[in-house]
Amino acid sequence: MDLPTITAAPGTPGCGPPVRGDDGWVVTRHADVVAALTDPRCVVPPAQPGAPPGTLGWLRASVSRFSPAGSHPARRAIGVAALDRLDPPDLSLAAARLTEEILAAGVSSGAPSSTKGVNRGPRLVEVMGEVARRVPVRVLAERLGLADPRAAVPTVSAVAAAYHPGAAPAAAAHADRAVAALVAMSPPAPDEVTANRIGLLVQAADATAGLIGGAVRHGLGAPAGLRTAGLLAEVLRLDPPVRATRRVASVAIDLGGRTMDAADPLLLRFDAANRDPAVHPEPHRFVAGRASGSLTFGAGPRGCPGERHALALAEGVVDVLRQRCRRADLPVPYVPHPTLRVPTRLEVILR
Ligand code: HEM
Repeated sequence: MDLPTITAAPGTPGCGPPVRGDDGWVVTRHADVVAALTDPRCVVPPAQPGAPPGTLGWLRASVSRFSPAGSHPARRAIGVAALDRLDPPDLSLAAARLTEEILAAGVSSGAPSSTKGVNRGPRLVEVMGEVARRVPVRVLAERLGLADPRAAVPTVSAVAAAYHPGAAPAAAAHADRAVAALVAMSPPAPDEVTANRIGLLVQAADATAGLIGGAVRHGLGAPAGLRTAGLLAEVLRLDPPVRATRRVASVAIDLGGRTMDAADPLLLRFDAANRDPAVHPEPHRFVAGRASGSLTFGAGPRGCPGERHALALAEGVVDVLRQRCRRADLPVPYVPHPTLRVPTRLEVILR
């Protein structure tokens, strides 16, 4: 079942050979992005070592996400082992139940037409704050054994806001306190295990919220015959919540017919590669059940280990929202961010 075209988000480049931008090379073709993701000479920009334990700097220096090749496999294995203990269908069910509970509790956006408990017209639900940013993290935090899953939600958001390089000093200071709070909520374990467990929550937070936001924005009016899994797959391709990732060339390399010098930064654009006509026939059309998937979960040894978990959580939430809500057709603003696409507000009408 098809939906109308989803136009590319503002700033999405077209597909072509790598081009040198202000901030390094921009890589847009599917084959070139995969080549960079699977080339050990293209390395993740490393975190600074030496930060005191329990701080944001410590977290960044301890998680697999920013680890150099030597320590990456063992740290990734910690996260993968924790994820292997979770059952995606159980996550989906828990996410659906919590979404139902939130809607039933009468949480409203606070807009004039939606006063709690007083029927003054259609009730608006602000999906991002009430559901998309809360449900996946709370379900995961509970399953990962954090002492206070509800309190983990804003705390994980505070860390996520400063997790990637370039955060403002105020956000980083807030994140330092949030990391300490998450460590205190975590079950006893060696430091590296604790850090990589927290890393799972932080990696999950914005991206899964963005996927839910995208699916609700594009799919709320879709025919019931369109399965939510198919909706999610095409939203991941056409409006990816993670638009790009970064690498640095550790030595001079040839990529996509261009030569990159050692230390050149690379920006790998999933949003462009997901519309590469060499891989996706009629790339701009929404076609549920396409044979070729998106690159939005990355690829290679650092590709997302939480893909099945993210899809299960999002499916549980979006299924309920599709049954219970209809579109409000209000503007959808997005968080300003160089690589993520997450709505700040997304209102829908509760049926
Ligand atoms: C729609 C939701 C998600 C998207 C689009 C997404 C996307 C990605 C991408 C693109 C990467 C690789 C980045 C790179 O190679 O530079 C990544 C890494 C990672 N993701 Fe996800 N992710 C999502 C949800 C999740 C969830 C739910 C979890 C855990 C429960 C998770 C855990 C991780 C971890 C631990 C890494 C680092 C892997 C490593 O260091 O090898 N992600 N994710």
